[in-house]
Amino acid sequence: MNQATLSQYVAPPKLQLPAVQPSLRSKRLRLRPFDMSDSLVVQLLAGDKEVAYNTRLIPHPYPDGLAAVWISSLPTLYQESRGVSFAITLPAGDIIGSIGLSLFPVDNHAELGYWVGRPYWNQGFCTEAAAIVLRWGFEKLKLERVYAHYLARNPASGRVLTKLGMQQEGCLRSHRYKAGEYEDLIVCGVLRGEFGKK
Ligand SMILES: CC(C)(COP(=O)(O)OP(=O)(O)OC[C@H]1O[C@@H](n2cnc3c(N)ncnc32)[C@H](O)[C@@H]1OP(=O)(O)O)[C@@H](O)C(=O)NCCC(=O)NCCS
Repeated sequence: MNQATLSQYVAPPKLQLPAVQPSLRSKRLRLRPFDMSDSLVVQLLAGDKEVAYNTRLIPHPYPDGLAAVWISSLPTLYQESRGVSFAITLPAGDIIGSIGLSLFPVDNHAELGYWVGRPYWNQGFCTEAAAIVLRWGFEKLKLERVYAHYLARNPASGRVLTKLGMQQEGCLRSHRYKAGEYEDLIVCGVLRGEFGKK
């Protein structure tokens, strides 16, 4: 590509986050920004071995203080349009998990990530939470695409993405090093024009 072509580069539409992170609602759930007072519940739920084993960055055992460090990093990520995380809560206020988008404004797309505490698995909560986040991402943030990765040995996560209408786009072989093993990673995605059509 020569200099003239480069100078004609046109940036995608600017990704605009609301000045204040909103809360989102569905039939059974409320998604809200995390608060420092959530630290102990996050440590308890994310510290479950099965949650850590299936996610990219959550360690096990989960160190004291890490949840507070993570929660305190979230407002800056939001302000810099790099990411948005929501606590998934039940109507009574109990936190059951976390869901969020890592934002890539240069491509106007985002990566969806989530975990749900083990006592709450297989009740449709992750799918319900992810559907609200995807709708918000496409309708309010005007994202062009949302994608997600999961370890090939984690069919529950694959099922969530299928239920959301994501297409499986490929397998990155031995892409992730987890717990002493190189593991295959499945990539799924959905485009703005596809979401909610199935
Ligand atoms: C993946 C995870 C978020 C799913 O949360 P959830 O609230 O249980 O998800 P849902 O109830 O919406 O959907 C789970 C689906 O997986 C299915 N499922 C569960 N275990 C399964 C298995 N071993 N094989 C195949 N399907 C399975 C459930 O039956 C359900 O599908 P259905 O509604 O068609 O019956 C949760 O298991 C979790 O937090 N795991 C650990 C962390 C993690 O994997 N995070 C994602 C990293 S990519």
